[in-house]
Amino acid sequence: MAKAPRTQFICQNCGAAHQRWAGKCDSCGEWNTLIEDGTASGIGAGPASLRSSRKGRAVALTSLAGDIEDAPRIISGISELDRATGGGFVRGSALLVGGDPGIGKSTLLTQAAAALASQGHRIVYVSGEEAVAQIRLRAQRLGVAHTPVELAAETNVEDILATIADGKRPDLVILDSIQTLWTDLADSAPGTVTQVRASAQALIRYAKSTGAAIVLVGHVTKEGQIAGPRVVEHMVDGVLYFEGEGGHHYRILRTVKNRFGPTDEIGVFEMSDKGLREVDNPSELFLGERHAKAPGAAVFAGMEGTRPVLVEIQALVAPSPLGTPRRAVVGWDNARLSMVLAVLEAHCGVRFSQHDVYLNVAGGYRISEPGADLAVAAALVSSLTGLALPADCVYFGEISLSGAIRPVAHAQQRLKEAEKLGFSKAALPPAGARNSEDADSPGENYFRPSELADLVAR
Ligand code: TYD
Ligand code: MG
Repeated sequence: MAKAPRTQFICQNCGAAHQRWAGKCDSCGEWNTLIEDGTASGIGAGPASLRSSRKGRAVALTSLAGDIEDAPRIISGISELDRATGGGFVRGSALLVGGDPGIGKSTLLTQAAAALASQGHRIVYVSGEEAVAQIRLRAQRLGVAHTPVELAAETNVEDILATIADGKRPDLVILDSIQTLWTDLADSAPGTVTQVRASAQALIRYAKSTGAAIVLVGHVTKEGQIAGPRVVEHMVDGVLYFEGEGGHHYRILRTVKNRFGPTDEIGVFEMSDKGLREVDNPSELFLGERHAKAPGAAVFAGMEGTRPVLVEIQALVAPSPLGTPRRAVVGWDNARLSMVLAVLEAHCGVRFSQHDVYLNVAGGYRISEPGADLAVAAALVSSLTGLALPADCVYFGEISLSGAIRPVAHAQQRLKEAEKLGFSKAALPPAGARNSEDADSPGENYFRPSELADLVAR
C-alpha cells in the first residue's frame, strides 16, 4: 500500500533526516539547523521504510578545502599514539587497532581512554572479552582507575548502541574486540565474518552519523592478518598494528592505513609493569644489545612489505686455516654473500680468499631484499679491517656485479625510520642513480675502495 507523501526535516549541518521538527538535531547536536523539506516522499515507520530513498545533499568540492587538515581531532596527549594516528583520533571516523593477543592493545587503549577522559571527553570502553571488574583491575594496575572512563561489558551491537545513547554523546567509543561483537541484523554466529562485518558496519554508521570516533580492536592471526575479517580493514578510515618482538619489551604502533594522515609513522612504547611507557629515543631500545663500537656490525635500513625495519647485520671475517675458506650465513642469502664478496675482491681490491666469512642478521630476523648488499659489504670490510663503523649510520643499497650501487625503493621511508630511531647518517645510493645506465656509468656511483675506507673511517 502506497503511503501518503510526508514532510520531513533535514538538518542543514549534517544532512540527517527527521520526521518531526526539533530545535536541536539528534545527529550532530547543532541547534536550529532543521529545515522542512516538503518534496520527500513517505518516510513511515517500520523496517521497509528505512530502506526508502532519502534525499542527499551535493556539496561543492571547493567548499571542502582544508577538510583533511582541519579534521576535528581528539588528542590523547600520548604523543607516540597521536603520532601514529596522524595527530589524534578523528571525530566521526573508525580506527582499527590490530595485533597479536597479549601484545598490549587493551593496555594501550585503556591508557588512551584514561588520558582522554581526564581531559573531560566522554569515553566509553566496551569490552566483549573481559568483565568490568577485570578492566578495573587493569586500570588500577595502570594507575588510572580514578579517571571517568565509562566501562561496559557488552557484545551485542544494538545493546551497545542503546547503552551509549544514554546521556551525552560520547567523543570516543572503544570496542574491544571486534571479534566478540554480534548484531541482530545478521543471522550467523558471533565471530563469523558476516557478524564481524555487519557489526563493524553498524558501528561505523554510528560514528559517521553522530561524529563520535570509534576504535575497533582486532586480533591478528598467525598469517599476520586481522583474524577473519580482513574486510574490516577496508571499511575503516585507519588501521594501526601493534607489534612486538618475542623476548623484548618494546612495542611498535605502526600506521598501515590512514585516510586522515600519513601512513609511514610509527609510535614506540615499552611495556613495563605499570603499562606502556612512551619511548623518546627508540634506537637505544631497539638496537640496545648492539655493540656499536665492535667492528663487523652495520645497521641496515630495510623494508618489510610497506614497513621500514632497521636491523643489525653482523659479519666476522677471520683468517682461515682451510684451503677452501668457510662461508656461513644466517638470515640472508648465501649466493648473495658470495656475490658481494666477489664484487669487493674484483672492484675494490679487498681480499677474502684467505679468510672464513660468517654473516648473521641479529635477532633471528630474515632479510630477503637485495637492498641489504651495501650494509653487508660495510660489515664485511669493517670486520676485515677491525675498524668499527660509525654508530649513528645506516646502510642500504643494492650492489651490482659491475660494482655500482643501485638505488632501492622507498629510500625516503627508510631514512625517515632511521631518523626516527636516532640515526643521523646514511650510506645510500646516490639520488641521481635512477636508471641502470646512470648506475653503471663510471662516476660517483661506483663503489670504490677509497669510499669503503671512507665508510669505515666516517
Ligand atoms: P593486553 O593489553 O591485555 O593485551 P591484548 O589486549 O593485546 O591482548 O596486555 C596483556 C599483556 O601485557 C599481559 O601479558 C600482561 C602485560 N602487561 C604488563 O606487562 N604491564 C601492564 O601494566 C599491563 C596492564 C599488562
Ligand atoms: Mg585485550
